[in-house]
Amino acid sequence: QEQALQYRTAFHFQPTKNWMNDPNGMMYYKGWYHLFYQYNPYGALWGNIVWGHVVSKDLIHWKYLEDGEYPIVGGPDWYDLYGAWSGSTTFLPDGTPAMLYTGWSNVVSNVSSLPLIQIQTQNLALPVDKDDPLLRKWYKSEANPVIVAEPWMDATKFRDPTEAWKGEDGSWRILIGARKTDNVTGTAHLYRSKDFVKWEYSHDIDSLKDTGMWECPDFFPVGLKGKVGLGVSANFPGIKHVLKVSLDNTKHDHYSVGVYDVKTETFKADDSLADVGIGLRYDYGKYYASKSFFDQKTGRRILFGWVNESDSDLDAITSKGWSGIQALPRQLWLDPKTGVDLIQTPVEEVDGLHKDKVSKSGFTLAAGSLAPVEGVHGPQLDVQIKFYKPEITGNKTKFFFNASDGASLQAGQVCSQTGAAHRGYLGPFGVLVLSTQDHKEQTAVYYYLQVRRDGKWDAIICSDQSRSTLQTDVDTTVYGTYVRVLESEKYLTLRTIVDHSVVETFAQGGRTVVTSRVYPTLAVNDGAYFYLFNNGVGAVHFFIRAFRSNALNQSVRGFINEDSH
Ligand code: FRU
Repeated sequence: QEQALQYRTAFHFQPTKNWMNDPNGMMYYKGWYHLFYQYNPYGALWGNIVWGHVVSKDLIHWKYLEDGEYPIVGGPDWYDLYGAWSGSTTFLPDGTPAMLYTGWSNVVSNVSSLPLIQIQTQNLALPVDKDDPLLRKWYKSEANPVIVAEPWMDATKFRDPTEAWKGEDGSWRILIGARKTDNVTGTAHLYRSKDFVKWEYSHDIDSLKDTGMWECPDFFPVGLKGKVGLGVSANFPGIKHVLKVSLDNTKHDHYSVGVYDVKTETFKADDSLADVGIGLRYDYGKYYASKSFFDQKTGRRILFGWVNESDSDLDAITSKGWSGIQALPRQLWLDPKTGVDLIQTPVEEVDGLHKDKVSKSGFTLAAGSLAPVEGVHGPQLDVQIKFYKPEITGNKTKFFFNASDGASLQAGQVCSQTGAAHRGYLGPFGVLVLSTQDHKEQTAVYYYLQVRRDGKWDAIICSDQSRSTLQTDVDTTVYGTYVRVLESEKYLTLRTIVDHSVVETFAQGGRTVVTSRVYPTLAVNDGAYFYLFNNGVGAVHFFIRAFRSNALNQSVRGFINEDSH
């Protein structure tokens, strides 16, 4: 157990023990942020799913509720006998938070038209006392299941209802993630209701072949001009909509920015090449089943996402006793500069964890060098770096990966084929975190600039886990992707947040994000060192601000009743 404690995060939410997956039903209610999550109360692997529940004043420090720790538990009702799966909160007109969630069952149902196989249904839960800011107790509606799949649908691929939005006709609409009976087309069914209890299937808002089951759809409007968030029902000229789906096949969260046509009630991606399911990703590392909510306190749209483990199931059961963390809550908005990317940054409450600030501006790291930064040390860091955008001069063809024609490799391949130790023309340059002093263990996060045939370059962000641990039964896949950098941008930026076993990187102001899990054996606690490095052939100019994070001594501190609130 000794070693595993070193992998527990200090400021990323994780339950004190056992398995956690998707974030569910987040909301701000009467002074508290509420986070629910898919949880196995009996073990460190997936199963027996109930809804866990924690509350927070600041999205960072979470507390359990002594009563109602599992507000929504599957069974003894037939419709959720095998688990209470993912869902979302909607505020009813009188302010009551209503929860729609998926029940998983494979029992003989009391609905005679249902086959005697596994089925997923959508169900409603409501607070027993809506004046309780902590929403301790919930009850399931007698009308459950409020939605059963149409006979022509695949009832085993029918789940994860979104928050409901209101159309001009005053009716509610939700999406339910699904896969068509051709077994290959991912889709999102749109259902309507006047009273939130009786729901009717209308049509599919969008679908795409060969994307498989669309889990955990999320659908929301974004403004064109900045960080201000919008509630799901907001719809006026000059806004865009985002549709995000989690692909069961690839285990990635893909989003598309496009237009929600209120007449046909369909979603169309602005760029058909970036259509739902094949479009951009929220995160190019490990990140899944995310969901956003509109924070009524501050007017932000905030995104939560599940980050699974990269070590083995055996480690989960034997040495750790837990699996799964939530990524830092991220504020989400449409990039006003590109109009096609979403920007994600850790919510500003994270800044409240900073201590021991180190700041160095405008210094140069020579080609081929590696340097510690005085005062930046340990397993809890928030490092923010700007690099002057390098110039490219002369003939750089020898730095093409495929020297014959300079054809590009895919970003991920570039990252895994070169690694941090490779010497390129423009990079790699970046940081080593959770590193031993001899660098035998290290996680490298860096930019690599791929020189193109036209003499320009593409920026690639890499997170290289290949040397992150001396353990052998860990998935150390190298992650990487292209980062959009505009002509008008003078710098490349990198913000890397380290929290024991998670490394979350926000590139170019949050335009591109990469999250990884790492399990060092020696580079832990005070043995975790930090370095800047530049393995390119030219010097790189850095501006760095780094913070050590206040040790929170694990992300859940006690029960709400232990102190005054
Ligand atoms: C996504 C998911 C959802 C489902 C839940 C079950 O990770 O598979 O589709 O509702 O997890 O725990």
